[in-house]
Amino acid sequence: MSLHLGRTEFGASSNKGHILSKEAAEQLFNEWVLNPKLKVHMRQVGYLMKCWAAEKEHLDENDQWKWEMAGLLHDADWDQWPDLHCKKIIEELEQRDIDPEVIRAIASHGHLHFGVEPVTQMDKMLYAFDELSGLIHAYSLMRPGGYEGMDIKGVNKRLKEKSFAANVSREDIQDACNRAAIGLDELIIFIIPRQAAVTSGN
Ligand SMILES: [Fe+2]
Repeated sequence: MSLHLGRTEFGASSNKGHILSKEAAEQLFNEWVLNPKLKVHMRQVGYLMKCWAAEKEHLDENDQWKWEMAGLLHDADWDQWPDLHCKKIIEELEQRDIDPEVIRAIASHGHLHFGVEPVTQMDKMLYAFDELSGLIHAYSLMRPGGYEGMDIKGVNKRLKEKSFAANVSREDIQDACNRAAIGLDELIIFIIPRQAAVTSGN
């Protein structure tokens, strides 16, 4: 089964600046995503995107929400339509006249699967947060204190342990850091305290 999208252009440039309201995004999220674990993952990635947009890119609230929306909805079709992963959510957002930058970020979050290269900083950060966020959350679940006291050393140890969260691609994580020009440790330090604030999918 190929998830290749077969195209690299998304949405219409005339839709620039048009994003979903928070209520509409929430409605789509809750209707499409039923798996509680996936909900937590998508909320975590959304929140990390928002924090990065605010703290590192110094974007205004509107653009912060744009980044958050890309993170919040990036796996929206994975739960109920895995064979159409990425394709379905992209087409939905195109039909709703959403800003092509958001659609492109979602389409490039797994370039080996979807055949779309991460180009903008928003693309690259979504790709970078996706896998690493999942591994760090899996690590928190096996620690008695959860995120409490978690440090870089522990995360790096889990990264080296191939059997831990084996479905998380270490190659993708390194590739994403290289593309975003961010050190792996810097990304881990950014994720731990922020992600600790989002442990529920509701
Ligand atoms: Fe994801």
